[in-house]
Amino acid sequence: MASSLPTTMKAAVLDKAGPPEAFQLKSVPVPPLTRGHVVIALDYASVGIWDVKQRTGEWGVVKPGTILGADGSGIVVAVAPNVTRLRVGERVYSYSYESGFYAEYISVAADRVERVPDQLNQQIAGAMPCVALTAHSGVQALKMTPGQTLLVFGATGGVGSFAVWLAAHESDVKVIGTARADAFDYLRALGGEPATDSSEGFDAVLATANGETLPPLVSRAKTRAAVAYPNGVEPEPKFDGHPSVPFDGKMTRGAFESLNKAIGDRTIPLRVEEFPFDDIVDAHRRIDRGHVEGKIVLRIR
Ligand SMILES: NC(=O)c1ccc[n+]([C@@H]2O[C@H](COP(=O)([O-])OP(=O)(O)OC[C@H]3O[C@@H](n4cnc5c(N)ncnc54)[C@H](OP(=O)(O)O)[C@@H]3O)[C@@H](O)[C@H]2O)c1
Repeated sequence: MASSLPTTMKAAVLDKAGPPEAFQLKSVPVPPLTRGHVVIALDYASVGIWDVKQRTGEWGVVKPGTILGADGSGIVVAVAPNVTRLRVGERVYSYSYESGFYAEYISVAADRVERVPDQLNQQIAGAMPCVALTAHSGVQALKMTPGQTLLVFGATGGVGSFAVWLAAHESDVKVIGTARADAFDYLRALGGEPATDSSEGFDAVLATANGETLPPLVSRAKTRAAVAYPNGVEPEPKFDGHPSVPFDGKMTRGAFESLNKAIGDRTIPLRVEEFPFDDIVDAHRRIDRGHVEGKIVLRIR
């Protein structure tokens, strides 16, 4: 079932790897609806550091006509006949590594799409799918029990924000986080406390980055406390005597359902920097400068 779709759309297209200025806004065909898929009219697309790695060619050759963007939010405008779970008009968010969210429309496998919890707006919903699913996978992998203490290293970035918030609110875990001093208020709003020189006795560590201040903190964790990190963190945070728990953000239907259950009816104090779609170059210049608290999004419409 489909509402009437245009034949062309605006998309941010890369014809080769390069700096932010490599993006060109172009008119391209709206992707066709295929079996098992839905077409979403996007409201927001998230801008992630994985997009930067693709843009610069770090993850391989950029083919002409590439449209980046792995997650976002929008409204379902077409549903393949064999998809019964989603309907035209529903407010959804989606994460799919097939890419293509830097565009007005995307055709995406229905299993990579979930309804947005009623209390969350489209901006937050568009910012969160990849980082929230990744943080949820990491917190679940650590199998912590209420009252334990988790150290989140890099606690105010994308994955870190959700790791802090989910651990504190869903798992009832005490969260200590590392952040720049000007982000301490944000860290507290998420449910964490800044790490200090006397912080110790962590039951587990979740590292969203690696740097020279991580080893001294891990040395103050409990014996055999696990160190979890999303694949992509470099160098891999490995420590003698501490089990490594590398993880990926699960993007299955079950993972989305589990995330929505964890969120429940809560709102999320995620910090979001918004850029109009036409300012895609500025959005990528911003992420290149680093130190983003929370997430960057493109407002597609
Ligand atoms: N495998 C997966 O499924 C998956 C999915 C998503 C992300 N990832 C990976 O997960 C990692 C985090 O992603 P993200 O989107 O959360 O990135 P992000 O928003 O850039 O967050 C990284 C955080 O780490 C901090 N940080 C960076 N370098 C640091 C250092 N040397 N010392 C202390 N803190 C440091 C940053 O703080 P500052 O503000 O001070 O810079 C920031 O808070 C990336 O490596 C990404 O590729 C993997």
